[in-house]
Amino acid sequence: MNILVIGGGGREHSLAWKIRQSPKVDRIYCAPGNAGIEQIAQCVKVPADDIDELARFAKKEKIDLTVVGPELPLTLGIVDAFQEEGLRIFGPSRDAARLEGSKAFTKELMKQNGIPSAFFSTFTDAEDATRYIQEVGAPIVVKADGLCGGKGVIVCNTVEEALDAVNLIMINEAFGDAGRKIVVEECLQGEEASVLVFTDGQRILPMPSSQDHKAVFDGDKGPNTGGMGAYSPAPVVTKALEEQILETIMRPTIRAMAEQGHPYRGLLYAGLMIEDDTAKVLEFNCRFGDPEAQPLLMRLKSDIVPVLEAIADGDLSGIELEWDPRAAVCVVMAARGYPKSYKKGLEISGLEKAAEIPDTVVFHAGTKSSGGKIVTNGGRVLGVTSAGDTIAEAIDRAYSTVELIQWEGVHYRKDIGMKALEHRPRTSE
Ligand code: AMP
Ligand code: GLY
Repeated sequence: MNILVIGGGGREHSLAWKIRQSPKVDRIYCAPGNAGIEQIAQCVKVPADDIDELARFAKKEKIDLTVVGPELPLTLGIVDAFQEEGLRIFGPSRDAARLEGSKAFTKELMKQNGIPSAFFSTFTDAEDATRYIQEVGAPIVVKADGLCGGKGVIVCNTVEEALDAVNLIMINEAFGDAGRKIVVEECLQGEEASVLVFTDGQRILPMPSSQDHKAVFDGDKGPNTGGMGAYSPAPVVTKALEEQILETIMRPTIRAMAEQGHPYRGLLYAGLMIEDDTAKVLEFNCRFGDPEAQPLLMRLKSDIVPVLEAIADGDLSGIELEWDPRAAVCVVMAARGYPKSYKKGLEISGLEKAAEIPDTVVFHAGTKSSGGKIVTNGGRVLGVTSAGDTIAEAIDRAYSTVELIQWEGVHYRKDIGMKALEHRPRTSE
């Protein structure tokens, strides 16, 4: 069969890499792809949110299944548009993707269904928001309602910071229409983890836990990024807690979406805050996490293609997943300056040597080929991902590989996975 992967980051490289291993697959296309994806798939220069052009391409190339990486095309309704054209596609409909596309919608749904999350209020008026913040005090979190590429959440330690955040989002319209409405919520404490499940709208197939590292610098310092590294499993998610998360968060959310008439089919990602062995939802994403996808897909032993097909067809019954019991760690190598401004076009060296390291894959994110060389083309450039019998072994292997790769101004965190080591000797999954 022919598969089209939409997107061009590390997540999409790991998806294409995993799909490539399927005996069911003939051709893989990727729009727009990157220099790493180019080595295993045919990249096409169509942006990930150009839905009409993507549908035309899928028809012309007789694509049997389209797999959507990023959230934007999902919230714009790519799944609805493809299905209307009779094209098979993996991902939630526009209405179901509101679980990521509108924080106000999701908070309301969680409240109505008793799904554990932070206390909150929703505002469309800056003065009302200001009064509320002055009343409840800090610390407090201010969130733009819509998609802001991961920048729309501001964790505020003082009332002043929170009022600045309201000003930035509602008065200065820093995120445009995405900030017409805001959610102001209780600041939760604890350790974060991610739990992802495949679902056909009714049944679920859980994945092992994982943990992202959002801040740009070691020790969780500096501004939030798309994610500087991830590992799986996350020992903070014990077996008992995993059950609790499935029963009190994932299943009720999927049931509530179905009851509303918008069954959620695809991959549901819960960003969680864990304190005292209890999990609360920070956010839902309607797609694989980036960089969580890299360690998770490295650990997935089963062929992913029948899973994606079953969900696209709305029936997961009979499908099971087999996971590698070993741990996996992804260290993101980024451009100096990211998540703010950074240079592009810098030559990357050491990739051939890195490719020789066993149990390791260097997934590309912001890269492109230029004159026979591979150069940087984004903020997050590579995701070096290794498996190991223990998290410690996977960390060592990933960092030994990272040290082989160079470009001017490369930046990466040196403490990816350290939180997992602090949990030893607790059992993980
Ligand atoms: P989100 O995009 O909603 O996951 O938010 C991005 C990051 O902001 C999360 O990964 C947390 O680190 C932080 N965050 C979001 N909501 C809260 C909250 N209610 N309390 C504390 N931190 C939060
Ligand atoms: N790693 C966080 C995200 O994909 O949203």
